[in-house]
Amino acid sequence: MPKVPNIRVEPPGPEAKKIVAKDDEYIVKATKTAPLVFKKAEGSVIEDVDGNTYLDFYAGVGVLNVGARHPRVVAAVSDQLGKYMHIAGTDFYEPLQARLAERLAKTAPGNNKKMVFFSNTGAESVEAAIKIAKRGTGKQCFLDFLGAFHGRTTGAMTLTASKWVQREGYTATLMPGVFHVPYAYCYRCIYKMEYPSCGTYCAKVIEEVYFETQIPPNDLAAICMEVVQGEGGYVVPPKTFVKMVFDLTRKYKCLFIDDEVQSGMGRTGKMWAAEHFDIAPDIICSAKSLGGGLPLGATIVDAKLNFDRYGRHSNTFGGVSLAHAAALATLDVIEDEKLLDRGTKVGKETKKRLEEMMEKYDIIGDTRGLGMMLAQEFVQDRKTRKHAAKSRDKIADMAFKKGLMLLPCGKSVIRYIPPLNIPQDQLDSGLEILEDCIKTVNRNRAD
Ligand SMILES: Cc1ncc(COP(=O)(O)O)c(C=O)c1O
Repeated sequence: MPKVPNIRVEPPGPEAKKIVAKDDEYIVKATKTAPLVFKKAEGSVIEDVDGNTYLDFYAGVGVLNVGARHPRVVAAVSDQLGKYMHIAGTDFYEPLQARLAERLAKTAPGNNKKMVFFSNTGAESVEAAIKIAKRGTGKQCFLDFLGAFHGRTTGAMTLTASKWVQREGYTATLMPGVFHVPYAYCYRCIYKMEYPSCGTYCAKVIEEVYFETQIPPNDLAAICMEVVQGEGGYVVPPKTFVKMVFDLTRKYKCLFIDDEVQSGMGRTGKMWAAEHFDIAPDIICSAKSLGGGLPLGATIVDAKLNFDRYGRHSNTFGGVSLAHAAALATLDVIEDEKLLDRGTKVGKETKKRLEEMMEKYDIIGDTRGLGMMLAQEFVQDRKTRKHAAKSRDKIADMAFKKGLMLLPCGKSVIRYIPPLNIPQDQLDSGLEILEDCIKTVNRNRAD
């Protein structure tokens, strides 16, 4: 096995630069992170067009929980290619999507029967949740949380409140009836309190202040939450926060929509992160890793929320058959390779390593996460907790040049989300490179 990572020419190399230039010329600006130009990817290893190899600590932006091109996923997709690629699953029938729906329905927490609406992306799975919640409750308003990210289509973007850049220029034409309140971001408590002496004030205040003044609770179709915030900074709230918010939804007879597009499919050591908090959401939104690398979204809903008639909501690519085949194989891999157990065990060990780094380098303000959904927040000063965004970017850029692919989130956070089956030696090499970069930037800061 050749050494990984192996940087032969400083990236972006000459071939990469050509593609980056063409991309800049013809592709509309979206969300570029680094000038990495893929040639091939396998497992947790990426090869670029200049022959460099990298370790993947970002899992294709949370898509590759079972690694790139897992042989069983590739075999399932190849087999399906020989049969049919697409049937318009919302209009017609095929065995794969029925089997996948049954399996997903049975993974969701709670004894109530679930049903599934298939789509292609996270945002679409959230849009479906919005429409299902409105019709299911006959109500139109939603409560969500500061720092939330649900996607960039209008409904999902309205529920989103993670960065102003996503909303600027659209604010006045977003979906009406959406309210945001602070999330339990304990490291940066907006109320300047400390858990647990705060008594989970951020949950209490929803009923005691917001419901009393601005948000009529009886108008709420749903409270929507990422039970672990992703894009907003990998924020893990206390269990009491999630439980108390969930209880509000029972009290005021609205739904709990749990966006697990990023935290689901085993990332936290459980199939769904909601299982850590002992709640059974009415709706779970899934995408990213669900398709094992192919686009697939699923909105898993309490069967009572099924539409009253055909035509209320539908799509053309309600999960292409190739993606259904890939998703079934992905679920098999998670089960057969015991990736929930591995994620829990390796996640714990990795978190310990990250905590040891935090003891040595005071640029690290916080280390947090569940399972293999891990992150560190970088600060200019541990007392003021001022964000060290530039230093964070410098660490990510330095890691890229050494062959470790990282993905920032929040204002000054880096998430560490390698595939759940990353080989131990690759994980160790990645962590060594990471520590090296943090050590250098800790001494030579950018902000
Ligand atoms: C929690 C969450 N929900 C929804 C989305 C949107 O998914 P997509 O980019 O597939 O539309 C994302 C994407 O990062 C996400 O993290």
